Amino acid sequence: MKIGGSVALVTGANRGLGKVFAQELVSRGAAKVYGAARNPAAVTGPGVTPIALDITDPGRVAQVAEQCADVSLLVNNAGVLKYSTFIGAPDLDAARLEMETNYFGTLSMCRAFAPVLAANGGGAIVNMLSVSSFYSNPFDASYGASKAAAWSLTNGVRTELHHQGTLVVAVHASYIDTDMAALTTEPKDSPESVAQQAFDAVEAGQIEVLADERTRTVKAELSRDHELIYPPVQKFWDAAVKGTS
Ligand SMILES: NC(=O)c1ccc[n+]([C@@H]2O[C@H](COP(=O)([O-])OP(=O)(O)OC[C@H]3O[C@@H](n4cnc5c(N)ncnc54)[C@H](OP(=O)(O)O)[C@@H]3O)[C@@H](O)[C@H]2O)c1
Repeated sequence: MKIGGSVALVTGANRGLGKVFAQELVSRGAAKVYGAARNPAAVTGPGVTPIALDITDPGRVAQVAEQCADVSLLVNNAGVLKYSTFIGAPDLDAARLEMETNYFGTLSMCRAFAPVLAANGGGAIVNMLSVSSFYSNPFDASYGASKAAAWSLTNGVRTELHHQGTLVVAVHASYIDTDMAALTTEPKDSPESVAQQAFDAVEAGQIEVLADERTRTVKAELSRDHELIYPPVQKFWDAAVKGTS
């Protein structure tokens, strides 16, 4: 799909990766870029048209799909991370919020925009996933579950929309240098690199982006995850529980 001349909508376009996604689309010559955000006044990038959208509000999602009936490229970027364990979390609030946003919000957007994309020639969906879609890490356990669910939905939506010519791109990344990863000192991808790789994939018709070395390694090790991925996670977590990490 060509981005030049396309009409795109990016969720969570007010900051972080979403803001960079929107700007990259403008630079690549998109005819119109809707920057969707809970607070549209915070969408200030040049050439980006602000639109109010909370992706967990199905009524509003439906309205936006009607209002933005010219969209041919949907970028499901909005997401939340609460750094919550499965067992140690005080309640299910973080897990529910992450699932409601990262899974149900993304699903709701795909469902609302599928007919819009069909009417506009098929187009493309980019779903912003994570290396945490591939394995469970106690530091972001319930987030990982929501991103695993979103990975599954991405694969399923691709199958269901193939007949209408919609390209569905999964973008997996490790840490990206935004507010979400502000707490970690681990190496981070730049949001610009992730956005460029995502839109290169759209233009090349590729269905998956593994944005960095760590993400590529984890994906390659999946068939031997209990030998290669989980032992170091276990060691790190046991040490953290004992207070010796
Ligand atoms: N940063 C990383 O290390 C990393 C790594 C891999 C994948 N990702 C994924 O990349 C995407 C972008 O994350 P980021 O790093 O840019 O995080 P961020 O800086 O925390 O930004 C998150 C964005 O999502 C929006 N958002 C959250 N809930 C929403 C809702 N219900 N409706 C609409 N917008 C909502 C936020 O809006 P408000 O300003 O209103 O809160 C904000 O614009 C997420 O899907 C994230 O899971 C991030």
